[in-house]
Amino acid sequence: MKILITGANGQLGTDLCKVLKEHNLLPLTINDGDICDWKFLQKTVSKFKPAVIINTAAYVRVDDCEDRRELAFQINALGARNVAVAAEETGASLIHISTDYVFGGKHLTHTIPYTEYDTPIPCNTYGESKLAGDNYVMHLCRRHIIVRSSALFGTAGALGKGGNFVETILRLGREKDEIKVVNDQVFSPTFTYDLAVRIAELLGTRYYGIINVTNSGACSWQEFATEILKTAGIKTPVIPISSAEYPTRARRPSYSVLDNFQSRLLGLKELRHWKDALKDYFIQRQTQKQD
Ligand SMILES: NC(=O)c1ccc[n+]([C@@H]2O[C@H](COP(=O)([O-])OP(=O)(O)OC[C@H]3O[C@@H](n4cnc5c(N)ncnc54)[C@H](OP(=O)(O)O)[C@@H]3O)[C@@H](O)[C@H]2O)c1
Repeated sequence: MKILITGANGQLGTDLCKVLKEHNLLPLTINDGDICDWKFLQKTVSKFKPAVIINTAAYVRVDDCEDRRELAFQINALGARNVAVAAEETGASLIHISTDYVFGGKHLTHTIPYTEYDTPIPCNTYGESKLAGDNYVMHLCRRHIIVRSSALFGTAGALGKGGNFVETILRLGREKDEIKVVNDQVFSPTFTYDLAVRIAELLGTRYYGIINVTNSGACSWQEFATEILKTAGIKTPVIPISSAEYPTRARRPSYSVLDNFQSRLLGLKELRHWKDALKDYFIQRQTQKQD
């Protein structure tokens, strides 16, 4: 199958290229062209004629989105719109990646997982811009799957962020005597390799619409950090603090766990627990270092 992947050297893009390597892939990075550049995108898509486009490209620096609101909307909303139009015009189906951060506004006291049928209300610019992208995809490309996931960690590291949460905690754990991490934001950490495998499964289906895909289980950033150091054998204590003690430019949801409700309806197997996925992250990371 001909598959065009945007953001191909990002965390998820890298794992998608690995998992889908048997297919005829066109992996696009920002060096090949910008999804905001309609002429580039249209030319590339109409020449390759993919059966499927997977759009992972996004401006993912959540705090920076607050300062660069226009850029956030340019990439996450209008970039997604371009991809949706290009897919529709060539008859490709589109798998577009979205986020748990479309939730968390207003209902800050939410304590049960969000399903695909809950109404998103974001609480920061990143979430707003991603939701605008989701809406374009829904309206402009008939055969779309919007995959919502959360707190991604992949061995490629989030290039745009210069690492990812796992790598940051490992570094801090080695450098400091103790580290302080917020314990009042709860979500489901998700390994991009597992997400890529699930996306590959979705390829052969006609499960159009929104689908939440996360590893099982949920935790706070403090619990996630504690498990990361434990798995790496680093004994540095992780002290729980509140979000009020660690102010950030972007507000974050206190609870953004995604219920993989649609997957259950479709009879898809639950993804493994995030702690098991984290163990595998360390194994894959080690193997890649040796290669
Ligand atoms: N990271 C998370 O915790 C998280 C959670 C939930 C959902 N998501 C969503 O999952 C998807 C993948 O995330 P990820 O963690 O794999 O992000 P990532 O590692 O930052 O990958 C995104 C890729 O998109 C590229 N990109 C940025 N702007 C672009 C543009 N205008 N045109 C073309 N390419 C562009 C980036 O290039 P540069 O590196 O050069 O900027 C990067 O390679 C995104 O849609 C994101 O919104 C992420």
